[in-house]
Amino acid sequence: MMKSVPLEKTLRRTQHLEMRGISKSFLDVKANQDINLSIKSGEILGLLGENGAGKTTLMNILYGLYHPDEGEILINGSPVQLRSPKDSMRAGIGMIHQHFMLVQKHSVLENIALGYDDAPFFFPHRHLRSKILELSAQYGLEVDPDKPIWELSAGEQQRVEIVKALSRNADVLIMDEPTSVLTPQEAEELFGILKTMCADGHSVILISHKLDEIMELCNRVMVLRKGQLTGEAAIEDVDKGKLAEMMIGRQIANAYPKAHCQPGEAILEIQDLDVDSDRGLPAVRHLSLKVRKNEILGIAGVSGNGQQELVETITGLRKGLSGKVLMKGKPLNHADARRAHALGITHVPEERIKYGIVPNLLLYENSVLKRHRDTPFSSWIKMNYGVIKDHAGHLVDGFQVDAPSINVKVKNLSGGNIQKLILGREISAGPDLLIAAHPTYGLDVGATEYVRKQIIELRDQGGAVLLVSEDLDELFMVCDRIAVMFEGRFMGEVIPQDCSIEEIGLMMAGSTPTEVLTHAD
Ligand SMILES: Nc1ncnc2c1ncn2[C@@H]1O[C@H](COP(=O)(O)OP(=O)(O)O)[C@@H](O)[C@H]1O
Ligand SMILES: [Mg+2]
Repeated sequence: MMKSVPLEKTLRRTQHLEMRGISKSFLDVKANQDINLSIKSGEILGLLGENGAGKTTLMNILYGLYHPDEGEILINGSPVQLRSPKDSMRAGIGMIHQHFMLVQKHSVLENIALGYDDAPFFFPHRHLRSKILELSAQYGLEVDPDKPIWELSAGEQQRVEIVKALSRNADVLIMDEPTSVLTPQEAEELFGILKTMCADGHSVILISHKLDEIMELCNRVMVLRKGQLTGEAAIEDVDKGKLAEMMIGRQIANAYPKAHCQPGEAILEIQDLDVDSDRGLPAVRHLSLKVRKNEILGIAGVSGNGQQELVETITGLRKGLSGKVLMKGKPLNHADARRAHALGITHVPEERIKYGIVPNLLLYENSVLKRHRDTPFSSWIKMNYGVIKDHAGHLVDGFQVDAPSINVKVKNLSGGNIQKLILGREISAGPDLLIAAHPTYGLDVGATEYVRKQIIELRDQGGAVLLVSEDLDELFMVCDRIAVMFEGRFMGEVIPQDCSIEEIGLMMAGSTPTEVLTHAD
């Protein structure tokens, strides 16, 4: 049994936090094995690791969401029991999850007030409002207390989460992949805020799979692989190559050798398309594009700028208002997913668990979804289970899907592994047009590298690809052209070799290419 001190004693500022010998299993998965972590006031610690390495689990333990099977947590040298997030918050630990946990209809102030038990009885909001403004000023966290959350950009929502944690006196802030929803400029702003916080005695644990970020921001880095701590270093002692190696146990290529490809005839052509969002607001406005054979067109943009509605219209999940969508010259405007499939379109959807699989079907059944009636998987009325199972086996091997067998229900796989299965299925179908939305989002370095190579190979073999991604490195590495989407429109189009990430970042925030050029002068 752990000895524990009353939490009240740790209400003072957390100077030093330590996790000792932490282990945690879920059924057969050892998510964390004997992990030691320590962080001091003023430090930024990077927590790096592949998908499924155990990073979120370890931090969920620190935030009181999970309870360790073994090990102890010490604050300023004394063991503490963190039974719930409330305990952790009282101990000075705050966590900002990958997906924000804000109530969309409520204002910033109301969200920060939720579950706040330190507020005075009278005029609680007045007290909180001045605290919010004080924190905003102190750390450069611009937020408007009276705006409803749904009006805020991802960057603003994240600032609200940070203010919320700080207003509860978080000394140690855990951030789970915080930049995945930000433009490069917003990410820079966030880094500035985090540095200011650390200069002031806070500490930050940053979970990331982006090596650049870790190198830029952290003082120290810890690397997890398959639930174990595989490396720990001061940032001066490592470089990106070394970190990648610690993370996946081997070296990876920095760039993919990509042959120049001469694009052929237009496969997908969109003319002057308008589409509304679910809320009936204009999501895609007067948009035109062409994707040709042997070509990868990337769409850059912060999510929520119409990318999803555009993709849904092309794949037959949503009806356009006006304009034309032509697949190999044939119209596609009728919200008919089966027709889109029949014309040779495959799709890796953004909401994969919802649209990409049938959770209760087995892995091998999911490996032929939508194609189970096609040859060679089916002949006349009979399913060819042998062929289907061979196919599933190839996908599992090729895309490194970590599954106990092809006979498990697909809902029992981790998110990353479901994703690899869907990618394998959609890419290997050899489509005329692949629509991939955030294909490597959340995947580890090794899997990401593999998926990108497969997409390029599909293009080399005559496929057309429309790649929607928020990861600019990915767009630069993979695409032949990149269009930047903002508020439903294309701000401009660039050739990756002739353009910098910074220029695209400005367009993502709504600048036209001309304004970007002026900015550069
Ligand atoms: N609540 C849970 N139930 C079952 N398995 C889980 C749960 N949370 C995490 N896991 C498993 O633990 C392992 C580590 O996951 P996670 O901590 O989310 O990794 P990371 O954040 O590094 O991607 C994975 O194999 C994952 O499937
Ligand atoms: Mg995680």
